Amino acid sequence: MAELLPGAPVTDLDVLGPAETLAAYTARGGYEALRSARSAAAVDIIAAVRDAGLTGRGGAGFPAAAKWEAARAHPGPRYLVVNGAEGEPGSYKDRHLLARAPHQVLEGALIAARAVEADEIVVYINSEFGAAHDALAAAIGALRGSDLADALIPVRLLLENHVYIAGEETALLAVLMGRPAWPWPKPPYPTERGYRDQPTVVNNVETLAHIPVILRRGGDWYRQHQPTLFSVSGDVARPGVFELPLGLTVAELLEQAGGPLPGDRVAAVLPGGYSLPWLRADQLDVAMTPEALQAAGTALGASVIVVGEQQGLGLAAARIAAFFARETCQTCPICVTGTARLAQLLRPAVGQPLAPAEVAEVTEMAAEHRHKGICTLLDTAASMAMTSAPDLTGSPQAGGEQLAAPVG
Ligand SMILES: Cc1cc2nc3c(=O)[nH]c(=O)nc-3n(C[C@H](O)[C@H](O)[C@H](O)COP(=O)(O)O)c2cc1C
Ligand code: SF4
Repeated sequence: MAELLPGAPVTDLDVLGPAETLAAYTARGGYEALRSARSAAAVDIIAAVRDAGLTGRGGAGFPAAAKWEAARAHPGPRYLVVNGAEGEPGSYKDRHLLARAPHQVLEGALIAARAVEADEIVVYINSEFGAAHDALAAAIGALRGSDLADALIPVRLLLENHVYIAGEETALLAVLMGRPAWPWPKPPYPTERGYRDQPTVVNNVETLAHIPVILRRGGDWYRQHQPTLFSVSGDVARPGVFELPLGLTVAELLEQAGGPLPGDRVAAVLPGGYSLPWLRADQLDVAMTPEALQAAGTALGASVIVVGEQQGLGLAAARIAAFFARETCQTCPICVTGTARLAQLLRPAVGQPLAPAEVAEVTEMAAEHRHKGICTLLDTAASMAMTSAPDLTGSPQAGGEQLAAPVG
């Protein structure tokens, strides 16, 4: 049985399934973890999550328990913010979790809030995901009418008109406080000064959905099975959200998604979504684990995007570079000029190869721009460009002028 997403895989990414009811969730062990967490000490909940090795699923892979402890080091009131922004093309898992398993996300958030000793939970949901918002609101209503009503703390739901940068945690907090979606320089980290200038934990939707599983199944089971949601999109026959154990190879994961499109072959894969470096077609035997992907020069992230030979790496890289140039929040001049220049450099690669001097410029920019922006958008744009540029010196890439179409 799927532990995170009932009825996975989801192969129609645009259609959200029906929300699991309280009765159905309870029948598969739902809220058992919250019941036991209510009588457990916060430090014991944190120890269980640390022991399971849960890392954040929003992209950065930060250990959840360490973040909770960091917030607890500062006096309250404290807040738990649920990041349901999911603005990166190719990522669909969070909206499906909220829409289909809202009680699981709610249970995870209530347990996390208890571990952090938070006074309030604030949930930020991308306004494109109205169904996700409604499912969570209904789940809160159902819990309020149950024997677990007194386990609820105040939960504020916000359906926000989303811009990509608002998914970054400090930009998201700024929006929650009525300010423009501009990231702020860290420190201070949100765990010290976040929502309403108070210690705040920002966790991704999927991160929270793992918590009831960890507490119910135990650390040994969790470490062994590592259920994970993979959004697989791009040039595959069956794009979708798949719940699979961590540790499958990239090739095995692509098989689950039906393999390449008919008549096509895999040219490259972004195993961590837009924000992380490429894997080549000869690297598909790499395991989808943080360690193996790191050894291959990349990482796990929010989604897995496949590029076939018919689309070509040149067009895909150009589209992604154009996305970052469009989505910069324009606070840091170096990010404005850097993302624009990367888009300009990769743009000709759609129709003609890059000159060696241009590849060198992309590589230099990736090194020189590292850690120069307030957030990591510029770093990620540069690392995506750097890892695609050397492949773009050869023959012209297939594709055309349709840069508006998403890769994912
Ligand atoms: C440009 C940018 C966009 C981001 N968008 C999202 C997002 O849509 N959803 C998300 O959960 N995290 C996003 N993140 C990561 C968050 O800043 C933060 O690390 C995450 O919400 C923490 O949750 P986790 O520790 O549970 O992964 C983004 C980061 C950056 C730099
Ligand atoms: S690095 Fe770019 S996206 Fe990030 S804060 Fe600076 S201008 Fe905005």
